[in-house]
Amino acid sequence: MDKNVVLIGMMGSGKTTIGRELSRKTGMEFIDLDELIERRAAMSIPEIFQTMGEAYFRQLESEVLEEIMSARHAVIATGGGVVLSAENRQRLRELGLVVWLDAPADVLLERIGDDPNRPLLSRSQPLKKLTQLLHERRDLYAETSDIHLDTTELTKDEIVERIIEELEKRSADEDDVFNTIVAIDGPVASGKSSLAKKVAKRLGFFHIDTGAMYRCVTYEAMRRGIPLDDAEALIELAHSLDIRYEEQPGEAPNRVFLNGEDVTEQIRAPEVSRNTSPVADIPGVRTELVRLQRQMALRGRCVLDGRDIGTVVVPEARWKFYVVASLDERVRRRMLQHQQEGHAVDIRQLREDIIERDRRDRIRTHGALRLAPTATILDTTDIPLEEAVEIVASIVAGALALK
Ligand code: DC
Repeated sequence: MDKNVVLIGMMGSGKTTIGRELSRKTGMEFIDLDELIERRAAMSIPEIFQTMGEAYFRQLESEVLEEIMSARHAVIATGGGVVLSAENRQRLRELGLVVWLDAPADVLLERIGDDPNRPLLSRSQPLKKLTQLLHERRDLYAETSDIHLDTTELTKDEIVERIIEELEKRSADEDDVFNTIVAIDGPVASGKSSLAKKVAKRLGFFHIDTGAMYRCVTYEAMRRGIPLDDAEALIELAHSLDIRYEEQPGEAPNRVFLNGEDVTEQIRAPEVSRNTSPVADIPGVRTELVRLQRQMALRGRCVLDGRDIGTVVVPEARWKFYVVASLDERVRRRMLQHQQEGHAVDIRQLREDIIERDRRDRIRTHGALRLAPTATILDTTDIPLEEAVEIVASIVAGALALK
């Protein structure tokens, strides 16, 4: 494949060392952004900082990045602060597969040792400074990268192997992004979210829970006291919100961030669930959120779950599933879920809520719950979740030759 690999992360994350090794093993050209900057300025990086200041360094960094946009089949090591500019983040994403080499501040410091060529750390208390920089940049690294690699426990060779594995996984069949998009639709509590979450983990794909976006708009409206029948205000709100998902290690589900605040638990409260249906009915709110969902989906290698994924959000997705389960089973599952999350539940109310939300999901004028023509129906009433995960994941993995 002629894609580039871009390594981002903090100072001390190993971008240059890993980059060189990856280049040696794959035969890809190695480009070190810092080296290009030094050559251009005819000065070392600490000298640039000392004599010209950080702003000048950032300017050179952007210029050099612009110049390498035509690179093909290269491993590119960047400077830790390259993600600070939105324009650069966009450039990095366009360049190729972006790998974030991550590690906690103390590990970074240990790796850096007392290297004098680290201008941003030259003042006292380097651990404090590193912690602060990492805190400031984490979201930007997350937003820019396709792969988040926690390198704390990994050796250099293991990191390089992981990246090569990821590259191989993405080859051939993946040139068509729609081959790597899995759309899972279904009614309330049919198990689609749990299924999507686990299938994504199995395949190493990103899980996009689209219901969480409608919940975020509703939750924020409730907090701000915006009436839930004020369509104009809700559309404006949907447009203005910054909604992101952050991948978690192991089996832990993604966390949902609303304007930078972790609202994963709050948006699941029964009152938010009840109020979300009418908000999701508003065509303008859907337009805003569908745009965001499609944008996220087109990055590929993802599993989306919702009501209108296979029909409206990404009808081109190669993998479409329509998950169903009996009403009794769905009430039982939702009750268990609420109990586990510590929310009080009244089973009769829950049943009525589900019936009402189903009804609204099916009759809304835009984005109604419908079976997409090429979707596979999966009835999960009598099969355990793990089995459903196995069915979906093996179909996709088998066809894409993933592990
Ligand atoms: O899947 P969920 O229960 O988290 O969804 C919350 C609400 O959002 C639900 O009332 C249906 C609505 N929704 C939607 O209309 N379209 C989607 N793609 C996802 C959810």
